[in-house]
Amino acid sequence: STDVKIYYATSPKSSAIQWLPPSNTSGKKHPYLFTQCQAIHARAMFPCMDSPGIKSKYSARVTVPDPLVALMSAARLKRSSDGKKSVYTFEQNVPTPAYLVALVVGALEERKIGPRSSVWSEAEMVDAGAKEFEDTELYLKTAEDIAGPYVWGRYDILLLPPSFPYGGMENPCLTFVTPTLLAGDKSLATVVIHEIAHSWMGNLVTCKTWVDFWMNEGFCRILELKIIKALFGDKHFDLYACIGLKALQESIRHFGCNHEYTKMRPDLKDVDPDDAFSSVPYEKGMNFLIYLENLVGGEKLFNPFLKAYCENFKYKTITAKEFQKFFLGEMKGKVDDKKLGTIEWEKWMTSTGMPYVENKFDTTLIDESIKAAESCCKGGDVERKMVDKWSTPQKVVFFDKLETMQIAALEKANSAGTEEKEKEKFREILTTLDKACEFSKSRNSEIRFRWYKLGIRCDFEEVFPDTVKFITAQGRMKFVRPLYRLLFGSKGKKLALDTFKSHREMYHAIAAKMLEKDLKCLPST
Ligand code: BES
Ligand code: ZN
Repeated sequence: STDVKIYYATSPKSSAIQWLPPSNTSGKKHPYLFTQCQAIHARAMFPCMDSPGIKSKYSARVTVPDPLVALMSAARLKRSSDGKKSVYTFEQNVPTPAYLVALVVGALEERKIGPRSSVWSEAEMVDAGAKEFEDTELYLKTAEDIAGPYVWGRYDILLLPPSFPYGGMENPCLTFVTPTLLAGDKSLATVVIHEIAHSWMGNLVTCKTWVDFWMNEGFCRILELKIIKALFGDKHFDLYACIGLKALQESIRHFGCNHEYTKMRPDLKDVDPDDAFSSVPYEKGMNFLIYLENLVGGEKLFNPFLKAYCENFKYKTITAKEFQKFFLGEMKGKVDDKKLGTIEWEKWMTSTGMPYVENKFDTTLIDESIKAAESCCKGGDVERKMVDKWSTPQKVVFFDKLETMQIAALEKANSAGTEEKEKEKFREILTTLDKACEFSKSRNSEIRFRWYKLGIRCDFEEVFPDTVKFITAQGRMKFVRPLYRLLFGSKGKKLALDTFKSHREMYHAIAAKMLEKDLKCLPST
């Protein structure tokens, strides 16, 4: 063997790095930098074998001007300062794929929230973050009970500026999260549970190629929901699974039900993984695993299987075929061979559209929201007293059901030539609903997102200004992409284009690239 030293520099245009001027930070005094490497942006930061199938340890020395702080997805070793600049050193001793290398530099503060956890962010948000995520240690312990020991040492959370393009990113030792999780009532902290679940599913056991991205996200989702179930009760598993199914339907509707990207293992030849990204690997993947769990008679066999899976494939990478072999091997002698023989692995992996076997979920926690949405859609009143008792996910179910019915009604009216009348009807419904429940005043990002979607679809122009505020105050793709697309397809087309053009600089390079495709506009030079 031989050692190779490579001298290189990244560029200001690197798709992996967002450089924020002081004006785009909370403190407004110092610049800020953060990276996002998943899926294939690590190569835009440093020379590497940028495939999830290749893992290595890494160490780094980072020099930054004082008083800025540098953090990475690794253990922090030491800091030394000459009064003008500081040198930080890091070491990741667990083999890690390139997409999990991460760096942040900013005027960061730390708040301890547990024996192995702190929240890091700019001073303006750090206390709110520490409060929102104060139950992190409980989530970690619950995850360890199900999946086995946590091998990464620390679990810190970095609360990023609003332009962070995802809800969360499972960077080892330091999960990155969007400030849109700050609901004030921990109702969106389930994203942290999801990122914690990646400490096993994805980070410890990693898909060999992005074709098997479902193995990262589907396994992560089922572990996330099992943690939620252990913490909040059995029925919450079903509640969140139902919300996931709606997201899956929406992704399939967006791509078209025969589209390649609706397969669990899509063909990614010459495809940018950012283009193929959707709820499909998450929800189809998880539903496949729930199907397997039900087939073997529930969690009595399936939970120990998941632990054995982590133990067996830790520090390694995996393909769907290897999983199949391991699963059948583990279940042999415990489950009837005939039963195991009924699993149509190929069909699950290669069929497009909704999962071909439907799982049944308990609907106790969502019945009231669904009924309320149905009645609302027929012009019935929705009682404020009832809505105030709903949790955030129950409100989400209400809005999702209303949206499904709105889409169906508008499609039907469209073919009958009565679309304008139908939109008018929905504007009246929303007006009545808002008078009673004041959803337009909600500060919860998941509720705002859904309220604006309902409004734009029926040209309810009252929501346009707030929508613009929402999509320019943060750059989380889950929210901004659908809202821009809807606005673009509505009376607000010019508003969408003007807003994007005047705020393009705020968005992360990945978000800007996707929005350009969504809005069919050429990259600005
Ligand atoms: N690893 C993903 C984010 C990701 C996926 C970034 C692919 C780049 C490419 C992360 O774990 C994730 O899934 N985040 C979700 C939240 C989750 C609760 C479903 C998100 O960002 O919304
Ligand atoms: Zn994930």
